[in-house]
Amino acid sequence: MKEFFNKLIKSLKIKTMDKAKRAGDMPVAVELEEGKTYVWCACGLSKGQPFCDGSHQSTDITPNVFEAERTGTHYMCMCKATKNKPFCDGSHAG
Ligand code: FES
Repeated sequence: MKEFFNKLIKSLKIKTMDKAKRAGDMPVAVELEEGKTYVWCACGLSKGQPFCDGSHQSTDITPNVFEAERTGTHYMCMCKATKNKPFCDGSHAG
């Protein structure tokens, strides 16, 4: 079914987004609460960075739902290239 839709989209020349947009050049520090669930924006389109606001619905990208393992400051990825979603791994530097 997915293949059918991909072919249809391609034949209609509809532009889709399968690569995240860089939302920032540096990580952002946020306070998270242990045991609480958060939804990190993986597409880079959210107006409420670093969290998802539903803007990914026009893309093939899905947000990252995670539960904070500890209360405190966390550095969330804004370049959307991290290999340690949703946290910064230094990928923004190059
Ligand atoms: S708005 Fe970017 S993943 Fe939801």
